[in-house]
Amino acid sequence: MGNGGVSESLSGKRLLLIVGGGIAAYKSLDLVRRLKERGAVVRVVMTSSAKKFVAALSFASLSGEKVYDDLFSPADEQEMGHIQLSREADLVVVAPATAHLLARAALGLADDLASTLLLATDKRALFAPAMNLRMWLHPATQRNVATLRADGALFVGPEDGDMACGEYGPGRMSEPLTIVAAIEAALAQDTRLPAPRATRGPLAGRHVIVTSGPTHEPIDPVRYIANRSSGKQGHAVAAACARAGARVTLVSGPAQIADPPGVETVHVETARQMAQAVEAALPADVFVGAAAVADWRVEPAADKIKKTNGGPPPALALAENPDILARMAGRGENGPALVVGFAAETSDVIGNARDKLARKGCDLIVANDVSAGTGVFGGDDNEAHLVSAQGVDSWPRSSKTEVAERLVAEIARRLGGGAS
Ligand code: C5P
Repeated sequence: MGNGGVSESLSGKRLLLIVGGGIAAYKSLDLVRRLKERGAVVRVVMTSSAKKFVAALSFASLSGEKVYDDLFSPADEQEMGHIQLSREADLVVVAPATAHLLARAALGLADDLASTLLLATDKRALFAPAMNLRMWLHPATQRNVATLRADGALFVGPEDGDMACGEYGPGRMSEPLTIVAAIEAALAQDTRLPAPRATRGPLAGRHVIVTSGPTHEPIDPVRYIANRSSGKQGHAVAAACARAGARVTLVSGPAQIADPPGVETVHVETARQMAQAVEAALPADVFVGAAAVADWRVEPAADKIKKTNGGPPPALALAENPDILARMAGRGENGPALVVGFAAETSDVIGNARDKLARKGCDLIVANDVSAGTGVFGGDDNEAHLVSAQGVDSWPRSSKTEVAERLVAEIARRLGGGAS
């Protein structure tokens, strides 16, 4: 069967689509069609009010899958238990997400199949809200959205526009292709939620501070010095520490990726702000410096620096930035028990990492080759060597998530199990 030349960008991805009861539910029929033509497997769950707007049969026909709506159906439960239904998906999509469904999700209610799945899932949920603008702007709804975001939920829309009720403003559900793009962006990252923190996991009871991303060092109000760090590796380390039960503070420079779920993220711009945020987050058991911190800053000009029109170009006076990793390592007894640095190298990766280990005084260096052609900078994979006083452990090329998980295992081993 042809798909009209659309790329199979979601090939093999499993999506659980929860359809709430709003007039925008008709757009979710088109969403299913768009997802299917991109190769996704879509399982649809409808709330009872959704069925007042669109027939379950329409979703069944378009998805080619059974539509689920009953928490207490013995037949459904035998065929595919609700826990399995919620765990099998790579991402849960809620479209339309009504004010009531958002409220139930934020409260953790489990009074029908849709809300139970949102509570039982171990994956992130992407909500596409649709409601009257007053309902959207109501402090109660905004509180619920903030709660859900803090729990790791993602949002697309709502958009401004004419509403079915005749008013104009924010509340229209995003168009199907916009939701498709948000799903693709969500799936490009780790969609797993951390295991409930409680007291389990090898890093339970530990506090880990992670730096990630680049820093931006302003030159004048419109220009800055930056680097190509995507933040993917640092964010993956923060997420993996959270999954291992740690309390995690992620201090992130300006990165174009979402905050990891279950992690307290502090957003900063410059190296000095990053250093300050790290100090403020102490005490910690572990510090992982994965950020590509700019070594130099400029004393920024108050106004935009003008063209010199043939005259000598303006000179930038550089000043050295604080070395956050060296500072953390230098704290000794008063600092984190374990200090881990990253080394992005383009030649003699291990030799340079050994030097860095000694120079910075840290316990571990994760060294990776970022020379042109490796695709490591900004990519999803990494080829890393763990360098310590005990020697070098070269890991196979793997995803940044796997590198993070190996590092967490090593951190847990060195700390000697959970703190509690
Ligand atoms: O000094 P260099 O950039 O080569 O070392 C990289 C390691 O040091 C990384 O772990 C990075 O996060 C950390 N670093 C830092 N503060 C700086 C420079 C680097 O924490 N100012």
